[in-house]
Amino acid sequence: MIKIAPSILSADFSKLGDEIKSVESADYLHFDVMDGMFVPNISIGLPVLESVRAVTKMTLDVHLMITSPSRYTESFARAGADIITFHVEAETAENISQAAEGIHRLGKKAGLSVKPDTPISKLLPYIGMFDLALVMSVEPGFGGQEFMSSALTKISELRRYVDSNCLKCEIEVDGGINPDTAELCVKAGAGVLVAGQSVFGCADRAARIAALREYRIT
Ligand code: DX5
Ligand code: ZN
Repeated sequence: MIKIAPSILSADFSKLGDEIKSVESADYLHFDVMDGMFVPNISIGLPVLESVRAVTKMTLDVHLMITSPSRYTESFARAGADIITFHVEAETAENISQAAEGIHRLGKKAGLSVKPDTPISKLLPYIGMFDLALVMSVEPGFGGQEFMSSALTKISELRRYVDSNCLKCEIEVDGGINPDTAELCVKAGAGVLVAGQSVFGCADRAARIAALREYRIT
């Protein structure tokens, strides 16, 4: 079944606990970390993750949009993340492998992500070490942007590689996901859909999550 990961970047942070409860029917809770360097925005970090961990049992899917992420991957694992994803563009080859090992040593899952302009070939040398591959379908940094259809080719390419090499890596897509683009992504081979505005901008979040999961147009 398709997994849905609401992104709390689009939640109302003044009532974050209630916002999280409203999306508990989803599979993962997507937690976007931005440092104002790797992306032109600053969001939330370790203390917020610890507070979120204390109020939910949901799988916490942390997306690190920061420079040299290997400095922090283990801190996020210790703070309660279940999946720690970072960007291939932000690290050296040696640190990418070491960060994946460090995350696994702490019993957590590791993900590797590519920005829209980065070809999938940059990710493939590492994919066997990762539990998740994240294809960005917007330039990372902000919620509520329009889906870039160039992501679909990358998802298909990744799906073919994962299947033909019998890998277990989940394929996640992030940015501009709504019931229409969800259908396109699922058909291309994505298994996990991140959705910010599309979920938190809806009054009935459970209904929207169900609609995205079945990629039906509501
Ligand atoms: C963007 C973030 C996304 C963002 C998605 O840099 O990584 O997770 O919250 O938001 P929507 O679904 O609104 O495009
Ligand atoms: Zn994200």
